[in-house]
This record gives sequence, C-alpha cells and structure tokens, in this order.
Amino acid sequence: MADTAEISTEEYILSLDGISKSFGGIQVLSDTTLQLQRGKVMALVGENGAGKSTLINIVSGLFKPDGGSMLLNGEQVHWASPAQAIKKGIAVVHQELTLFPNLTIAENMFAGNSAVHLTFGRINRELMHKRSAEILNMLGFSIDTTIYVGELSLAEQQLVEIAKALVWEPKILVLDEATSALDTNQVKLLFNAVNRLKETGVTIIFVSHRMYEIFEIADQALILKDGKIVAQVGEDQMKTVTEDYLVSCMLGRSVSAIFPGKRSLETKNVLLSLEGMTNGKAKEEIPFIVHPGEIVGLAGLRGHGQEELLRILFGISERKDCKITIEGGAYQPKNPIHAIKSGFGYVPADRKTQGVAQDLPIEVNLTSVNKKKNFSRIRFAKERDMIQEIRDTLRIRQGRWYQPVRSLSGGNQQKVALGKWLKTNFKILLMDEPTRGIDVATKHEIYEFLRSLAEQGVGILAVSTDSLELLGISDRIYVFYDGGIHAMLEGDNLNEVKLTKAIMGV
Ligand SMILES: Nc1ncnc2c1ncn2[C@@H]1O[C@H](COP(=O)(O)OP(=O)(O)O)[C@@H](O)[C@H]1O
Ligand SMILES: [Mg+2]
Repeated sequence: MADTAEISTEEYILSLDGISKSFGGIQVLSDTTLQLQRGKVMALVGENGAGKSTLINIVSGLFKPDGGSMLLNGEQVHWASPAQAIKKGIAVVHQELTLFPNLTIAENMFAGNSAVHLTFGRINRELMHKRSAEILNMLGFSIDTTIYVGELSLAEQQLVEIAKALVWEPKILVLDEATSALDTNQVKLLFNAVNRLKETGVTIIFVSHRMYEIFEIADQALILKDGKIVAQVGEDQMKTVTEDYLVSCMLGRSVSAIFPGKRSLETKNVLLSLEGMTNGKAKEEIPFIVHPGEIVGLAGLRGHGQEELLRILFGISERKDCKITIEGGAYQPKNPIHAIKSGFGYVPADRKTQGVAQDLPIEVNLTSVNKKKNFSRIRFAKERDMIQEIRDTLRIRQGRWYQPVRSLSGGNQQKVALGKWLKTNFKILLMDEPTRGIDVATKHEIYEFLRSLAEQGVGILAVSTDSLELLGISDRIYVFYDGGIHAMLEGDNLNEVKLTKAIMGV
C-alpha cells in the first residue's frame, strides 16, 4: 500500500481544509486551509484580532468550527472537548494563566492528568515531583516543585504553564503568546527546549508579537489577516524573507505607509516635566520631559505604572512624591477639571465605558468637555459649526445627525473620544491605547492626526502595549517597570530588541 497518499499522511501531522467560524454573525475565520508538517515550527502571524487564537481553539477542541474538516495523522477528527484533543496529543499554552495559586508547582502540572500512576488509590507524589522537575529542567528552570504557584513571578508561572502542557507529551504543542511574559534569557532556554522537542518529532505552532522570536524559531510562517490566510512562508523562504514583508502582510500595507514620518526636535522648550516616578531600583532617576511637538511613547507590560502616570497627570490618581511642571510652572493636579483647565486632554483605554458616552448622540459627546451653560440661538449655531468642524477634521463617518455613539464602528467611536478634546485648547494629549481594536485604515488616520497635532506644538503621551505601534509613532519612548520609569529610548535605540528588553526590566 505504499502509494502517494500514504506518504502525504506521513508528512503532515495536521491538515485543515476550509475551516470557518463566526461569532454572533461576525465571520472570524473564513475558509482556512493549512497543512502542518511533522517536527517543524510553524509561526502563526497576525495583528490582534486576526483570528490566531480562534484557529488554535478550533484545533484544540475548545471551539467547534462552523464548517470545514480537520485531519490528524490523515484521519478525520471532530473534537467533542479539549480533553479529547489533548489525549490525542494536541496541547495548548495560552497567554492567560490557568494555574491554581494555592496548589504546588507539581500539583498544577499534573492537575487533570493521569500520567502519574495511582498507588492504592493515591497519586504517586514522588513520581509526580520527579517528573515535574525533569520537565522544568528541560526548560532550564530548576526549582523546588513543592513551592506554591502563588509565590512565583509571572514569568515563572508562565514556564510552569508550558511545563504543564509538556506533561501530556504532546505531538503538537501550541504556544499562543506564551513568551510575552518571559525575559530574553527565559525565551532562549524555551527555544532550546523547542529545538529538542522538534528532534523528537513534535510539531510546534508558535504565536508571538515579537518578530525576532519568530525569525529565530520558526521554520515556516502563516500570516492571518481578518480571519483569512493572506500569505505563507515556506521553509526555503524563511531565511530570506524580511520583517517588513511579514508586517506588511499582517497589516495589508507597508510599514512606512502606516506610520507618518517622524520629525526631529527643534525646540529645547519644556512643555511638561515630572520627577519622582521611580521604581526605587535605578541608580539615577531618569528625567521625564516632554517637549512641545513631540509624541512620547510610554511602554511597559500593563500595570507597571505607565497608565498610572496618565491618571496622575489627569488628576484621577495621586502620587504625593511626584513633582510636576507645565511650561515651567508647578502643577499639582487636583481633579480632571483642574487638569483640563491646565491644558490636558485624556483619551482612556476603555473607550466603551470611559472614552465616550455610548448611548448619547455623537454631537453631545463632541461638545461634552466644553459645554457652555447658555441656551441662546447663537450658542447653538456656534456649537453646530464646531461639531461640523471636528467631524470634518477627524473624518468621523456618521449617517445621520443625533445617532448614538454606540452605532458607530470602533474606529469612529475612538475618533469621537479624541474629537471631544479638539476645541478645548489642550497643550498635552494623554492617550491610552490609541488604536486598540480599530481597523488598519482608521489606525492610519489616527496616527496621521496625532502627528498633525504634534506639528501644531501639542505634546502627546501615548501608552500602548503594541510595540510595533509605539516604535512607529513615537519620537522617544519611556519604558516603565515595577511602577516607575526604567529606561528612555531614542534614536538608534528605538528598536524592537531594546524595547522588549527594557519592558522585561533588563
Ligand atoms: N468567544 C468569542 N466570542 C465572540 N467573539 C470572539 C470570541 N473569540 C474571539 N472573538 C473575536 O474573534 C476575532 C479574532 O479573535 P482572536 O482569534 O482572539 O484573534 P487573535 O488571537 O489573532 O488576536 C476578534 O474580533 C474577537 O473579538
Ligand atoms: Mg490571540
């Protein structure tokens, strides 16, 4: 029976044909066809929301596809549950941790796994700890496996999460943004383990936002955009393909077409300065300064202090040890009204609950910050002109007047959240995740708009967890770690490797 069909099932461990999936009428994956070669690392590349995790969740039995077929080792499979997929050798490590803090490392690794033989109705603890330590060692992580997971750092927990998947001795290991909490050294050790797994014939699906990780570990790449495979990079091409090429496939246009050009700083004037935002670790405090006309990026894993800085400046949070000046004068933010009067505008990360009033009309949102308590006709006419001007400036696409903001697309909602500041004479714009959940075309418009504001002398502080975006729009980047400013990157140091290292606290 040595025919060609048999050879192909030998070569491909997993084949998907025409897989599709929609949620609530929205097509998230359409007609996805791919073949996964045994013993290779396949990178799945795509922007946030491209459908990577959905595809993985289908492969691993968490979601049922709406259509299409899936072959594992040449045999058609329909997963009834993730448990079934894992027993057949497909293990997934998600970005979100699933560990129990009040169980030990070994207990977590073996939770739900019967690989440790029961002796007299009890789990063989000795074997469990021995096996756990072996797997962790392979990942370059030697630790007492009786320690409670709750005592581990985020990165250590992530390593345990990976080790937990390896307990199943998977044939296909999926790493879905599993490296995002790891530092460069931990990633290197993980990649050593991945290479050893490959040698034993394990296939790896690798998802990461860091391009250099993809280039280091992947044999092949598959680029997803809006739920469709838009490009494939085979093994022979992987060595020659450029980062720009992958990114432009991901975004649907070239990087230089997405981000407007930067401008070198001509002024030494200080618009905003701040002292005291330290994490107590740096030898010397890094001065925080914003010049007029600059876009300053604030980087860091979420919760490391960068969002807090925006809230402090806007008078929502307080940090007594911070000394702030605006154009040389002392500024002690009391509340948002004080911040607005002092020249700040603020677009929070959560536009649905904070950035806009979803149920109110666009017009009401756009005038919400500088509403005059005057009901004259002149006032109304002026307001109408003002609204029209903001809508034209930002190209807010709306069907009819007095539509609730809820009815707009995410991108247009974000324009409303930004637009309401335009007539307030702000000098400093604070933006938390300027383009999260927005389509590429609108992202581009927002970047262009931010740059034009900067050209008019506004100072912009942008918090983002999207490194590509931060590197694309920022003139300089401050990196936050552990509640304070940890590094400042400018010039040649504005690159992905330096930024990632700084975000990890290196
Ligand atoms: N369980 C779900 N219910 C509704 N929508 C979902 C669900 N899971 C994912 N989506 C949507 O599917 C799209 C793709 O998401 P996802 O697969 O998580 O993308 P990625 O992993 O590439 O960032 C997104 O628009 C997301 O909001
Ligand atoms: Mg995902």
